[in-house]
Amino acid sequence: MNATTADPRLDGRPVKRIAFDAERIAARVRELGAEITRRYPDGELLVLGLLKGSFIFLGDLVRQVRRPLQVDFVVASSYGDARSSSGHVRLVYDPETTLEGKHILLVEDIIDSGRTLTRLMDVLSERRPRSLDICALLHKHVAEHLRYPVTLLGFDAPDEFLVGYGLDHAENFRHLPYIASLQ
Ligand code: IMP
Ligand code: MG
Repeated sequence: MNATTADPRLDGRPVKRIAFDAERIAARVRELGAEITRRYPDGELLVLGLLKGSFIFLGDLVRQVRRPLQVDFVVASSYGDARSSSGHVRLVYDPETTLEGKHILLVEDIIDSGRTLTRLMDVLSERRPRSLDICALLHKHVAEHLRYPVTLLGFDAPDEFLVGYGLDHAENFRHLPYIASLQ
């Protein structure tokens, strides 16, 4: 699609191609919401988003879930402004958030090396949740550091640098309603 060259949100920045358009994302998010509704017939459910990348996905996802739930966020960053992982993972979360006895669904935008998620899953599993699962919008399948299964997945992602629908490059492009690969 060449429509992106005319998109004022891009500030003239060339986008290689749209990997996932808004309609395709919305359809898949509806399916994931229904899957979550089915998967958790009882118990307390806490949907825990990894900031900042998951904020749009999580916002759309929870509105497709037809059961009670709570929402909270953690910050885990392994990327600065660089396009490749530094290997450093920093976690910031509210230690008062009760996880014990709850179903925890960790929502991530994209799995690349898997370092961020593995570190976070290690920390969360020590807090005695009733269950602990990963829901990721995108998975590049290059995650040599991921020691946990991805229970719910939106799409297999190309091994390209993607922006939009929450994903950024140097904090830009998170507000694109589609997911595009950057030149
Ligand atoms: P990991 O720890 O290497 O799996 O990195 C995961 C995090 O890196 C994601 O939550 C994103 O914030 C960021 N990331 C990885 N790949 C991309 C990409 O293609 N575009 C934008 N951010 C990415
Ligand atoms: Mg990022």
